[in-house]
Amino acid sequence: KEIDFQQIFDEKIENEVRIEPKDWMPDAYRKTLIRQISQHAHSEIVGMLPEANWITRAPSLNRKKILLAKVQDEAGHGLYLYCAAETLGVSRIQTLNDLHSGKAKYSSIFNYPTLTWADIGIIGWLVDGAAILNQVPLCRASYGPYARAMVRVCKEESFHQRQGYESLVVLSKGSPEQKEMLQDAMNRWWWPTLMMFGPKDEESSNSDMSMKWRIKRFSNDELRQRFVDISIPQAEYLGLTIPDPDLKWNEETGHYEFGEIDWEEFWAVVKGNGKCNKQRVDARRNAHEEGAWVRDAATAYHEKRSKRENE
Ligand code: ACO
Repeated sequence: KEIDFQQIFDEKIENEVRIEPKDWMPDAYRKTLIRQISQHAHSEIVGMLPEANWITRAPSLNRKKILLAKVQDEAGHGLYLYCAAETLGVSRIQTLNDLHSGKAKYSSIFNYPTLTWADIGIIGWLVDGAAILNQVPLCRASYGPYARAMVRVCKEESFHQRQGYESLVVLSKGSPEQKEMLQDAMNRWWWPTLMMFGPKDEESSNSDMSMKWRIKRFSNDELRQRFVDISIPQAEYLGLTIPDPDLKWNEETGHYEFGEIDWEEFWAVVKGNGKCNKQRVDARRNAHEEGAWVRDAATAYHEKRSKRENE
């Protein structure tokens, strides 16, 4: 009797049994995982850049240590995710080449500049906060290596979010200039953070299949709404004004209503025309080229060692 691989796959998805690298899977499932995981990996390592910008200017040794640890964590997240993508049959260099040529996407949020120290706290609180909301459900994604990578990533993101919020609490109790700097950062980052969740559900081309395959568990708009509901009281505690005149609490639904996102800006950034897209891709490409000698040295060392072991 012929084995029906599709049926076995469908039953695993239905019964919440993880799909593992050597299991049969439909080509389209493999393709969408490679797409999402590699975009996610790129986001982690491109995300190091706006924050690394402030390592040399952190206001105290303690803040500098925390920021260094956080930026290194992001590198680690990138590495797990590139490994997870490799289990699907794509090589790391191929994935990186797509980033360096500008072909691959990564999160729109990292194409905005970090102008002040308050931006670093805001990234921890809002950007990493949004990342957690999106990634906790991914710990239950149907593809094993991706789901398992997300567990540790989420734990670390949770530390990132707390350190960000704590640094903002300090600013919120500081001088008038510090409070102003904090509000200015909020004004610049609020809307781009809401864009992180992706296009509206009606325009989200990948959602239907990703939900069916249980890669995604919640839609872009559901997670965005949850993020707004959680963040407003936190912003109020910091004494911040939300830069959205249409924001209001709806007693009946138990949710905040918020204004329309500037989707033109979102798509412009996704297509490569944001404030820092060119700078980010150039920085990654230069880092890769300048790191060639490290890769060569590691390869030479590995070859020398295996030769010695085989002698
Ligand atoms: N920035 C850049 N591109 C985006 C963004 C965004 N904020 N949101 C959506 N897109 C892209 C999608 O990648 C997709 O492009 P593609 O089809 O060419 O690959 C297109 O816009 C349409 O969007 P969707 O159909 O909604 O895409 P998808 O179902 O993949 O949902 C989402 C997008 C929610 C980002 C999903 O891919 C996801 O959950 N990814 C994992 C989390 C992640 O990558 N986080 C990165 C930021 S967090 C961090 O690194 C700290």
